[in-house]
Amino acid sequence: MQLPAWSPEEALKVIALTSHEPGPVLVTLQGIQDHFGYVPDAAVALIAQTCNVSRADVHGVLTFYHDLRTDLPAKTQIHICVAEACQSMGARKVVTDAKDAFATNTEVEIKDAYCLGNCALAPAASINGKLRGRVSAESLVEEVNHL
Ligand code: FES
Repeated sequence: MQLPAWSPEEALKVIALTSHEPGPVLVTLQGIQDHFGYVPDAAVALIAQTCNVSRADVHGVLTFYHDLRTDLPAKTQIHICVAEACQSMGARKVVTDAKDAFATNTEVEIKDAYCLGNCALAPAASINGKLRGRVSAESLVEEVNHL
């Protein structure tokens, strides 16, 4: 999916849609990330001003939630579950092997996840949000090569 480039005008439209919600800072940060794929520094000031809080408050929320990101995402996002059921089925090795396999591919980003709700098919992973079960580094490479 092609994400729009950062634009303050677009950001203000997103902020206008979300800033009236309860817990407006978090909802607005999520809205910005959903729209642009990340939360650029420039968005922090806009959100602070609109929600009538300090930049430090916005930054605090932004850095507290690990799913919020401040850098552009890679084209392919792989989340590998390392929670208990998946760990017991070798997920840590899948993570290590997958990181080795994609070490030189800047288009792929691998992150840990903590239960994707697919425990019965451990080890589980998601590729750009699509859930996969009984994965291995090889199966992840195979699927990414066919995207
Ligand atoms: S523990 Fe991995 S999907 Fe639930």
